Amino acid sequence: MSGFVEKPEPLQVPGLVHLHTGKVRDLYQNEAGDLVMVASDRISAYDWVLPTEIPDKGRILTQLSQWWFDQLADLIPNHVLSTDLPDGAPADWAGRTVVCRSLQMVPVECVARGYLTGSGLLEYQESRTVCGLALPEGLVDGSELPAPIFTPATKAEVGEHDENVSYEEVARRVGADTAARLRQTTLAVYSRARAVARDRGIVLADTKFEFGFDGDRLVLADEVLTPDSSRFWPADRWEPGHAQPSFDKQFVRDWLTSAESGWDRRSEQPPPPLPDEVVEATRAKYVEAYERLTGTSWS
Ligand SMILES: Nc1ncnc2c1ncn2[C@@H]1O[C@H](COP(=O)(O)OP(=O)(O)O)[C@@H](O)[C@H]1O
Ligand SMILES: [Mg+2]
Repeated sequence: MSGFVEKPEPLQVPGLVHLHTGKVRDLYQNEAGDLVMVASDRISAYDWVLPTEIPDKGRILTQLSQWWFDQLADLIPNHVLSTDLPDGAPADWAGRTVVCRSLQMVPVECVARGYLTGSGLLEYQESRTVCGLALPEGLVDGSELPAPIFTPATKAEVGEHDENVSYEEVARRVGADTAARLRQTTLAVYSRARAVARDRGIVLADTKFEFGFDGDRLVLADEVLTPDSSRFWPADRWEPGHAQPSFDKQFVRDWLTSAESGWDRRSEQPPPPLPDEVVEATRAKYVEAYERLTGTSWS
């Protein structure tokens, strides 16, 4: 069992048609046919969208993505058309709403990894490969890879796990030419972002991009380089051989799997609400990631 603990009702906004309630974002279409993406304060963990929100998360993630799109603008076009609030939208959408070009999305989660951890580490321990790519012996949790690798995944429905797939499988699904463009672009954008983050004392261990086509132009879409789509580690505490401290949902995951939560991940039960101190510590992590990366203070 997984999914939403409580699925929110979409807002009715004149001039907008509700398309989809994602794990974190709500999608609408405006009268011009553009996409209106509204980031909520929802947080997901262990394939559940939790019943507790993290205040300001939607605005932090939207503005961090926006900052990255600007940093990357010379490398890749992005889907952003405007960050102005659409007419008739509720005032509390300000700062977390982006009007974007509606793209023909490529159904591949384009992951780049520069370090070994997570699902990559699990596959490596079984077979010395990640997404079928052979890696040298002797790597441990948190090791830097000899060079960044493209490790695509297929996008799962809410409540399902994304599944890692080989490059050959991506080529079968989207064609060899598009697969090659995805790999080349993912690695180029990752390399740039990693250098930017490194200058700010953050290791960008891995990240996920989504691309779409506008005609035959490949465009960077969705959110980019946020703690929800990336693993950020404080560089001064990076030490291979164990799990790294990180700027994301670690407090949430740790609490949910602790005895204190009373929740069993493998049970059919939905996870319980988060206590205030876990909410506050998590919010502080998102703020810290934003401030360290952009060099500007939040609020
Ligand atoms: N420019 C775009 N055009 C069309 N779809 C997009 C665009 N940018 C992002 N999307 C899609 O919008 C959704 C964003 O909402 P999100 O909460 O992340 O949903 P999900 O639970 O599907 O990950 C994703 O399904 C993403 O693929
Ligand atoms: Mg998403």
